[in-house]
Amino acid sequence: MSEAPLSLHDAIYTLRAMRRLKPDPVPEEDLRYVIDAATQAASGENTQSWAFVVVTDAEKRKRIGDVYRQLAETGIPSLIEAAADESEARVYRHALRFAGRFGDVPAMIVCCLRGPHPTGESATAQATWYGSILPSVQNLMLAARSRGLGTVLTTMHIFSEADIKRVLGIPDEFSTVAIIPIGYPEGEWRQPVRKPSGEVTHWNEWGIQR
Ligand SMILES: Cc1cc2nc3c(=O)[nH]c(=O)nc-3n(C[C@H](O)[C@H](O)[C@H](O)COP(=O)(O)O)c2cc1C
Repeated sequence: MSEAPLSLHDAIYTLRAMRRLKPDPVPEEDLRYVIDAATQAASGENTQSWAFVVVTDAEKRKRIGDVYRQLAETGIPSLIEAAADESEARVYRHALRFAGRFGDVPAMIVCCLRGPHPTGESATAQATWYGSILPSVQNLMLAARSRGLGTVLTTMHIFSEADIKRVLGIPDEFSTVAIIPIGYPEGEWRQPVRKPSGEVTHWNEWGIQR
């Protein structure tokens, strides 16, 4: 008997950062599906200026992994020291440990958007620019979840974005916003730890909570 498909509710409520991924290859059909799901997302003025680079080539994954690991080893230890509390420090420790294995994930999807990062532009321009790719990234991650594939949204590579673009031949007119490692999880699916929604909901006036 085939398994019932995962409901959207269950996908949303069990999607979490999966940093422990098996080396088993991800079927190409699944990679095509998650990107197709990504391209169903909204973008400002429906520009759809996104592009997705799938990286399965072992040599390229290694080169990207090396760039990512060096960045993490340079930047994350001081973040661990400066963390406000243990749970923040734990996230950084996980991220640092993951960085050492980044190049070993079976596939990565580099999410690109046309144009430069909107540094120095208005808040509206910045929100519209990043907001024109991040909904597609969430679609991609949910679609992966629906096929039993783990993902984690990463952005740290942007510190060395030129190196990543060079490895993949990404043209100057595109920027990279996220790298999504994807693979079958070693870890369990479970509801992530989040604040209760009631704590962050205000009814008709800020501060009125019920
Ligand atoms: C905008 C954004 C950027 C992130 N960048 C990184 C990153 O560079 N490296 C990393 O390991 N995780 C990164 N993460 C993953 C977060 O640390 C993770 O989603 C968060 O801690 C929640 O984890 P959980 O779903 O397992 O609870 C990023 C997440 C978001 C939303």
